Amino acid sequence: MAQDFSPIEQAISLLSQGDVIGLPTETVYGLAADATNVAAVARIFQIKGRPSDHPLILHLGDASWLDDWASEVPERARLLAEKFWPGPLTLVLEKSARVSDAVTGGLQTVALRVPGHPVALELLRSFGRPLAAPSANRFGSVSPTTRQHVLDDLGDDIELVLEGGPCAVGLESTIVDLSGAAPRLLRPGGISLEELESALGERVLPSDGSVRAPGTLESHYAPRAPVHLVTPEEIWARALTEAAAGTVGVLTDVEPPVALPDSIALALLGHDAGTQAHELYACLRTLDERGVRIILSTLPSEVGLGAAVADRLRRASAPR
Ligand code: TXA
Ligand code: MG
Repeated sequence: MAQDFSPIEQAISLLSQGDVIGLPTETVYGLAADATNVAAVARIFQIKGRPSDHPLILHLGDASWLDDWASEVPERARLLAEKFWPGPLTLVLEKSARVSDAVTGGLQTVALRVPGHPVALELLRSFGRPLAAPSANRFGSVSPTTRQHVLDDLGDDIELVLEGGPCAVGLESTIVDLSGAAPRLLRPGGISLEELESALGERVLPSDGSVRAPGTLESHYAPRAPVHLVTPEEIWARALTEAAAGTVGVLTDVEPPVALPDSIALALLGHDAGTQAHELYACLRTLDERGVRIILSTLPSEVGLGAAVADRLRRASAPR
């Protein structure tokens, strides 16, 4: 495409002709298509290798778009949108007639969010229509938190990945289902359960397991190397034992007590949960690049964003 078009103009031109592009958000990079173009949405599933009955999130340019894409917007949804949008929160609501089955996989509900990233917002507002976008990785693997990660995974399949720098949050949005009698947490993420409950002034219940969501499949967000969870007390003894049999990756916030052999690749996480969320996926990728045989990891304490970090590590370690 001619040089004198800005990246946003190029993105709009590609999206308008039904192409799929890489889009930075504050959580992870997305694989975005015009949500009103059924063929373009089908292309997302094809590129990702994702089963077509796994629904996508619709990204909106502003909370004022809600009423066009949800048929019923409960007071709770307005309150959370007002407080957390633009930001890493996805609301599941009754869908409006304008939302196609290609996006929802035939469900009567739709997942909606306004992303808190200036590039995503500028694109959405100029385009004027919602973008359907899952994380821009192959189905089941680690989500991308830089433009380069997207190019590494999907560069052969997409023409444009907008640059937006490293994602500020670093793991996916929190998903709350507001379509039933009580709010339910479908996926922990960038907004903590504590923040949600304090904003709503009521309990947010765990998922009852009735909704199909790939981020809630047991095995997901997994690097190439198998991940094993180990207690903080045992991590270094275990790492030294495993290191005798080949290169081991260690992902933890527990400082090593001794100098490490070259056969241990260490990704030392910061202690703060926000920093851990920010670093998690990039660290998993780096360990894979080092060619480690296995990855040993400890779980953070599950308060605030720590709950989302622990959730992703559990799924990364689940049997495949
Ligand atoms: O942070 C994010 O949410 C990122 C960025 C790109 O926005 N997107 C993302 O999309 O994580 P994806 O496709 O990887 O995960 C979307 C999740 C899935 O778990 C899906 O099942 C769930 O949203 N979902 C979508 N529509 C739903 C619905 N109607 N009811 C319940 N869950 C739904
Ligand atoms: Mg994903």
